[in-house]
Amino acid sequence: RAPEPATLVIFGVTGDLSRRKLLSAVFGLWQDGLLGSAFNIVGVGRQEMTDEQFRDYAAEALKTSKETDAIQPGNLEKFRELLYYEYGDFATDEVYDRVGQQLDEAENAHGGRKNAVFYLSTPPSLFEPISAGLGRLGLQDESEGWRRIIIEKPFGTTLETARHLNDAIHGVWDESQVYRIDHYLGKETVQNLMAIRFGNAIFEPVWNRSYVDHVQITAAEDLGLEGRAGYYEEAGIIRDMLQNHLMQLFTLVAMEPPVAFDEGAIRDEKVKVLRAVKPIPASQVKFSAVRGQYGPGTLAGERVPGYREEPGVAEGSSTPTFVAIKLEIENWRWQGVPFFIRTGKRLPKKVTEIAVVFKKPPLGLFPGGLERNVLAFRIQPDEGVSLKFSSKTPGQENQLREVTMDFRYDAFGAGLESPYSRLVLDAMLGDATLFPREDEVDHAWQLVSGMLDAWEGKAAAEFPNYAAGSWGPEAADELMGPDRRWRRL
Ligand code: BG6
Repeated sequence: RAPEPATLVIFGVTGDLSRRKLLSAVFGLWQDGLLGSAFNIVGVGRQEMTDEQFRDYAAEALKTSKETDAIQPGNLEKFRELLYYEYGDFATDEVYDRVGQQLDEAENAHGGRKNAVFYLSTPPSLFEPISAGLGRLGLQDESEGWRRIIIEKPFGTTLETARHLNDAIHGVWDESQVYRIDHYLGKETVQNLMAIRFGNAIFEPVWNRSYVDHVQITAAEDLGLEGRAGYYEEAGIIRDMLQNHLMQLFTLVAMEPPVAFDEGAIRDEKVKVLRAVKPIPASQVKFSAVRGQYGPGTLAGERVPGYREEPGVAEGSSTPTFVAIKLEIENWRWQGVPFFIRTGKRLPKKVTEIAVVFKKPPLGLFPGGLERNVLAFRIQPDEGVSLKFSSKTPGQENQLREVTMDFRYDAFGAGLESPYSRLVLDAMLGDATLFPREDEVDHAWQLVSGMLDAWEGKAAAEFPNYAAGSWGPEAADELMGPDRRWRRL
């Protein structure tokens, strides 16, 4: 699996994502020899810089990012040679013209081809202008080499704007050239969900309404805003996490087995299950969803300010930093099995987990029994999978207690790669399996539209309704009903 010679053009290369994650991921791929025989990067930004200054910038970013693999002697110097820089105003043609010239210059070294991936790691307001600019100069044209475009999230801000963006992108690019990135799909543990479900015989037979009581998906973060108030005030938790990352996790747990492990088959199944989700119209949101915003509290022994006290946040802000929802799927497999999803900022710790909670045994033969078995996928940190079941405690009594069988990634003896490295490599290889297709993104927006309609522009009198360092508002517990509980993580 080595890509053909190609140029990776990164728009917004001096931005946060690129500096902290993307450059390290690409460097790691290159250092591991995964990028093929000829490869170079053209960074594009608005800031004025020479190639040499950009090389210094990138070297510094690689040395300071926590995500960079150990740099082998001499490699930084060699990698620098692959880097070029262009700057300019993204609204005018000049910058795209120079990017085109860079592809011309790489042609000889690249075996007479002008293959390119354009990675839009910019603020979302620039996705459309950059795509259009590339189109004006004909850089999407594949007659002299393949051309692909990677678009960061968020893809749109509402169903309507997402559709508009999609139309604008399709005005220039064929869907087969478009790679919408969701970094959760690049996570090893997320891909393993499919591998475990469809690579084993024992899970699928019980993966349905006959055996499963409910499913819980949690993506908790202890972090607050990290200086991103400008973005977050607009986005809130629904656009930042729920519409994309959480919907992807949900889809992978709930989808039917694909007929093949390829992009067409997998994405078809993902869309199918999204279509089967019972819509939550604005009028029903209060029964199926809970929003929250953190107030001041204590995290890891330290006082932290509330959301409204964060610099850049409006005094009476109604932006949600927590959401919990209950989804129901109307198909043969899942009828009557609720999927509970919660995500929030400033919760007690960083943990992402998917738990498939099974039904209780039909009969309690033993004292202390009748617990629900749980198969839990620990997406991060402490990556692994565990199965909780009841066992007899040693002794003269037939007493049961819950025990756990545990798989941890340490078993493989190697660390996990950055999600971005897998996704960049796949895009260079032309494999879109791990990238959401247009109809998937559309359905995911449809599912959250009711919440946006019900909540946006309406002051949230109950905010703040959870303390930083707690597990969110109490109403999130009530969402589960009397007989079910969020897992203690
Ligand atoms: C990003 C969000 O997409 O995902 C952030 O914008 C969030 O707000 C992050 O912190 C979480 O990603 P991860 O990989 O750290 O779980």
